[in-house]
Amino acid sequence: MAELVHLGIIMDGNGRWAKKRNLPRAAGHLEGLKSLKKVIKGAIDEDIKYLTVYCFSTENWKRPEAEVKYLMALFTNKIYGEIKTISNLGVQIRLLGNRSGLPEAALKALDRTVEETKENNKLVLQLAINYGGYDEIIRAVNQLIKDGVSEVTVPLIRSKFDNPDIPPVDFIVRSAGEERLSNFLLFDSAYSELGFYDRLWPDWDEEMIKTVKQDFLKRDRRFGGLS
Ligand code: FPP
Repeated sequence: MAELVHLGIIMDGNGRWAKKRNLPRAAGHLEGLKSLKKVIKGAIDEDIKYLTVYCFSTENWKRPEAEVKYLMALFTNKIYGEIKTISNLGVQIRLLGNRSGLPEAALKALDRTVEETKENNKLVLQLAINYGGYDEIIRAVNQLIKDGVSEVTVPLIRSKFDNPDIPPVDFIVRSAGEERLSNFLLFDSAYSELGFYDRLWPDWDEEMIKTVKQDFLKRDRRFGGLS
């Protein structure tokens, strides 16, 4: 039977949620952070061990400067601000993505969060920030070239990822109706299941993770073989 160990989420629809309410897009992102907290609790309840959330892509720099600044401020102030709650829940924070280009203050706050939660073991929450699937693969391969490797393999490439100890994602879900991966976990999604849900990200909660898990359990995973 399929086991949901690692769930990946493309948190989409914050802007649309805000627009529907005549609010600025930033209000949607702030509400999105609230639903992330509920989803983390839901993931723990459902015994999911790894949760990877797409917070900011390598392409999101194209957004208006004010929106980028707002999201960077969230990463700088809000995550470490929740350190007590995060630790009480037993959540270990890990970072996924390209550090270069991120503001110093954000990196400092994020690194501190990672350091102070490293002993927690209920759930590993991987924050994909300035993350892109192409970038992840290119960085890994360039590192192998630097190391003098003349022929790559799947395990060798994976070994140079930011968190090679985290198993490949089992189920990638996306909120807000669009059906694409948008450069998320390109390498590790080779055999992951995909799920698309119409509900906008700020409307997600613990219950939604129950639904997601139930949907996943109906899947027949064959990894190219026969069931
Ligand atoms: C996509 O919705 C959402 C993002 C680019 C940002 C995701 C970030 C959060 C949910 C906040 C998480 C914060 C922390 C501190 C971890 P969109 O803006 O593309 O929505 P739209 O497609 O409706 O415009």
